[in-house]
Amino acid sequence: MKNELFTKDTTAIIYGNQQKAVQRMLDFDYVCGRKIPSVAAIIDPGKNSVQKFFFGKGEILIPSFVSLEVAAKKFPKADVVINFSSFRSAFKSSMEALNTKGINTVVIIAEGMPERRAREIAATAKKLDKMVIGPATVGGIKAGCFKIANTAGTIDNIVASKLNRPGSVGFVSKSGGLSNECYNIIARNTDGLYEGIAIGGDAFPGSTLLDHILRYENIKEVKMIASLGEIGGTEELKIVEALKAGKIKKPLIIWVTGTCAKMFPSGVQFGHAGAKADNSLETASAKNEALRKAGALVPTSFDDYDKLVKKTYETLVKKGVIKPAAEVKAPAVPEDFATALKAGKVRKATSFICTISNDKKEELEYNNIKITKVIKDEMGIGGVIGLLWFKKQLPKFARQYLELALMLCADHGPAVSGAHNAIVTARAGKDIISALVSGLLTIGPRFGGAIDGAAQNFKRAVEAGLTPEQFVKEMKAKNVPIPGIGHKVKSLTNPDMRVSLLKDFVRKNFKITPTLDFALAVEQLTTQKKANLILNVDGCIGVCFVDLLKNCKEFSAEEANQVIELGCLNALFVLARSIGLFGHIFDQKRLKQGLYRVPYEDIAYLSDN
Ligand code: ACO
Ligand code: LMR
Repeated sequence: MKNELFTKDTTAIIYGNQQKAVQRMLDFDYVCGRKIPSVAAIIDPGKNSVQKFFFGKGEILIPSFVSLEVAAKKFPKADVVINFSSFRSAFKSSMEALNTKGINTVVIIAEGMPERRAREIAATAKKLDKMVIGPATVGGIKAGCFKIANTAGTIDNIVASKLNRPGSVGFVSKSGGLSNECYNIIARNTDGLYEGIAIGGDAFPGSTLLDHILRYENIKEVKMIASLGEIGGTEELKIVEALKAGKIKKPLIIWVTGTCAKMFPSGVQFGHAGAKADNSLETASAKNEALRKAGALVPTSFDDYDKLVKKTYETLVKKGVIKPAAEVKAPAVPEDFATALKAGKVRKATSFICTISNDKKEELEYNNIKITKVIKDEMGIGGVIGLLWFKKQLPKFARQYLELALMLCADHGPAVSGAHNAIVTARAGKDIISALVSGLLTIGPRFGGAIDGAAQNFKRAVEAGLTPEQFVKEMKAKNVPIPGIGHKVKSLTNPDMRVSLLKDFVRKNFKITPTLDFALAVEQLTTQKKANLILNVDGCIGVCFVDLLKNCKEFSAEEANQVIELGCLNALFVLARSIGLFGHIFDQKRLKQGLYRVPYEDIAYLSDN
């Protein structure tokens, strides 16, 4: 076992997907001025991948491996494993790490490991001459070199405790929380920590307080040693024996916590599994007295721990044993944007605006109406269209009109261009979205896409006071087919029931229908030329929608104009016809219809030669 466990080039493999802990290690690396990240790889039994982390101002990728064996082979210089496995699997993964070539130190974070397992791990580590820190530890830190996971808290605390560069004090305790406290005490009363280890609070740790004290004894940069013991067990009595045997020559400041236990009527169990005195020898007071007698520097209480640290340090400086470490200004770790934004320290112009819905609130809202209200008030799909398309709570007749239009336009058989394309695409074996889109792409000025044109043109004609004759003549002069007029198969003699149903609904529910009346007058003229130049379903939906806006007090004249000019009415046909197109696609798939090829007799090959 080497005395130095960590250097400025130490790299670790993290067992478990612990993104926060990894980022904290990398931020520590940055404030220490490390050139290489201290995390080489992550073991994530779920998948092999790469993960992005900040490294100072930049970003790096750290690979994730399913297996430690593969990661260790890939990164042979990584000699530390920080094991975040739960207590259920920590034994198996820790033993795997100990038996992995190249791994010298294994840190076990899990609490609750069975004592028998913990003892087996400790024995294995001894046999392999490897170091185990834990179980039930936050780990430790080598100032200016390497930080284990979440040790030492925030980066601000780390810099405030001068942990970004090495000092002269070696520290070891059982408790991670008290370790952080003592790093701060050491920083305030000496030139700082050289290394600090928390061995964990279990009864059978992988390494003991004495193991680390003896390591510090053999590291020349460590000039004084500080430690915190704990009520329960006889660990501190081994330190007494080592002191008596002259194995510890550097000043050792130590305090055994738990002296308050004597105020309780019976043996009290403190937080750590091992923190309970089973006999008088294991009490904190007895151990403090034994340490004091053996030559350790033991304060009268923890309150005086800092004074003793300070006094010891100053003595060593006076003797010239310690040349105080120079202060090193730590580079500021850029704050994560998300953190700063959340704290209101920065602001960022948004890239998108949404005024129609909000999913960030406790409950989804459509145009500020809670979804529960949308359902409770039975607003229906017409109401949802009103909220999300027009940002209005539509009256019932308007909602019903929209739903009628959707129902009537859902399908018009397999012969129309949209259905044809969808069918052919489905029969080509394409997925349902591709087949749908193939059908939707035929919607345009001649098929299904004339609703907006009809609404805009007929609205304009009515508002301009044109007569139907003038309107027809004007469109003819422009050589523009009147949008909403004409049909391939419907005519005066074969009327489109869908148009009849729409007209009936409007007559019953709209107070005024000037645009529809005008369109029907136009139809009278166009059908004189050809019987199929009827007001078709697109045209009827469009002109009736213009009248709907005139019948809705919810829309100002300006808003009504905006809706018509926006060109959103064709969307009604797209939304409706998607239902029918899906029907045809599913039909073809159900029928297992094969690839379609146009029969030769359907094609006129009129090539020039
Ligand atoms: N306005 C004025 N004249 C028209 C119109 C019209 N909308 N449609 C056709 N005509 C005229 C043509 O100019 C042509 O006249 P001509 O013989 O003097 O040249 C004659 O009627 C025949 O024209 P065709 O295009 O051959 O007629 P067809 O029956 O193939 O057209 C169609 C049907 C595509 C719907 C056509 O009427 C049209 O383009 N209408 C406007 C767009 C429209 O409303 N589409 C929606 C249809 S319904 C739906 O898809 C759900
Ligand atoms: C439809 O709704 O698809 C039809 O009006 C078009 C057509 O040609 O039948």
